[in-house]
Amino acid sequence: MKISLRSGRRPVVGLPGKMKVVGVVSGGLTEAGQELDQAYSGILSKALKLGKFRGDFGSELTLVADGVFLMLLGLGQKRGVTADRVREAGVAVARKALELGAREVAVENFFADRLGKEAASYALAEGLYLGSYRFERYKSEAKPVRIRYWIAKGRGRAVEEAERMAAATAYARDLANEPPNVLTPEALAEAARALAEERGLEARVLGPEEIEALGMGAFLAVARGSDNPPRLIHLTYRPEEKPRRRVALVGKGLCFDTGGYSLKPTESMRHMKADMAGAAAVLGTFQALAEFRPPVEVHGVIAAAENKISGRAYVVDEVVRTMSGKTVEVVNTDAEGRLTLADALYYAGREAPDAIVSIATLTGSSVVALGRKIAALFATEERLAEALRAGGEAEGETLWPMPLEPRYQKLLKSEVADLKNVGTREGGAIQAALFLKQFVRDPFAHLDIAGPAFQREAWELGPAGASGFGVRTLTRWLRSL
Ligand code: BES
Ligand code: ZN
Ligand code: ZN
Repeated sequence: MKISLRSGRRPVVGLPGKMKVVGVVSGGLTEAGQELDQAYSGILSKALKLGKFRGDFGSELTLVADGVFLMLLGLGQKRGVTADRVREAGVAVARKALELGAREVAVENFFADRLGKEAASYALAEGLYLGSYRFERYKSEAKPVRIRYWIAKGRGRAVEEAERMAAATAYARDLANEPPNVLTPEALAEAARALAEERGLEARVLGPEEIEALGMGAFLAVARGSDNPPRLIHLTYRPEEKPRRRVALVGKGLCFDTGGYSLKPTESMRHMKADMAGAAAVLGTFQALAEFRPPVEVHGVIAAAENKISGRAYVVDEVVRTMSGKTVEVVNTDAEGRLTLADALYYAGREAPDAIVSIATLTGSSVVALGRKIAALFATEERLAEALRAGGEAEGETLWPMPLEPRYQKLLKSEVADLKNVGTREGGAIQAALFLKQFVRDPFAHLDIAGPAFQREAWELGPAGASGFGVRTLTRWLRSL
């Protein structure tokens, strides 16, 4: 899918395209809708009178007149409008355009009067792009399609920024949607290298011997069962000017998670190709950094591996030595993410950054707590938590704060080692975050995206599959520093 977004000077009625979209707000046509109505001899207002369509948010009525699709999009009430609603409206428009096969679409700049032209164009453009996203590489019949959207009376700059942000999200979606036979740790490292080459970033990739030389015993234990060797990926973005801050992002990069000898049941193993969605979010963020070039230095660290079974695979009861020197008793091989992250976080800490943020599909427990639309947010500092949360909110990504409860730390005490990798079932996401905290210095934040990283059904911001969750949150946050 080749998606292009343009802002048009004219109102919807005057823009090109065989599909024209206007909103229905508080049950009536908007000004753009009235103009379109007049141009098509009152067909829209007649349609509104005809039946029960009242323009509830999420509803839609599409007519055909003079060989043009006219879409009435329900936007709900005028009160309480948010950018989220506009972004989701954009997704709904894209979905309809793809369904109908429209290739050029003119869209009203919904709620520009309420949100301001900038913010409205930004959210709409983002929605149109994210809603047009499809993963079709492996569909033999799929033809490459181009779709162009015109945002009526839009702001060019805002549209361009939204396009770059959405493209970075789409890149992360692509990576996490790739099947595990294609996207091995080696292939993920290759993708990181290619990104760095194309966008002028630094990339350093380490293989098993070098990882061993660093003493990353926890990471290596997880990777040991697979024939596909691990890779440690270290990306660096340096701004032209002296950096205002130095930050490290650490993404969980399990290209597949079978659970290992603590094997996952069939249904739970499904979609574990996306257990590298944290890594994908980091790579997507680096694509966005290369575009927006904010004055911060950013390190991206990914411990890429597969959690599989073989004669060499790690088993429970093993004690592994992390790069930090701390030893860990493995009590469940399915809690592998925290083992790989322990070493990746410690490695990232050697850069002595001003803040470290990990992003990971870490626990089923976070999915139970918050569902598939919300990520769990842990932070050692309130300010850091709030800055990340605000970045997410502006971009339609919800992060909800969870406690790093110190009283739970003792649940991770081991009889034989410094720590064990799993405590009790209750409060599992918290214990996982507390485990990670043992390997970093403050300030530290951790996003558990196990819920929102992968959608089993089409959802508010796109089709079923990887969501790219985290790219826009992290990018917004980094741009705000
Ligand atoms: N990758 C999973 C977590 C996960 C679950 C991601 C559902 C996406 C959707 C992780 O490695 C895992 O298996 N965690 C275990 C930890 C447990 C053994 C303490 C879990 O959550 O069940
Ligand atoms: Zn696991
Ligand atoms: Zn996992």
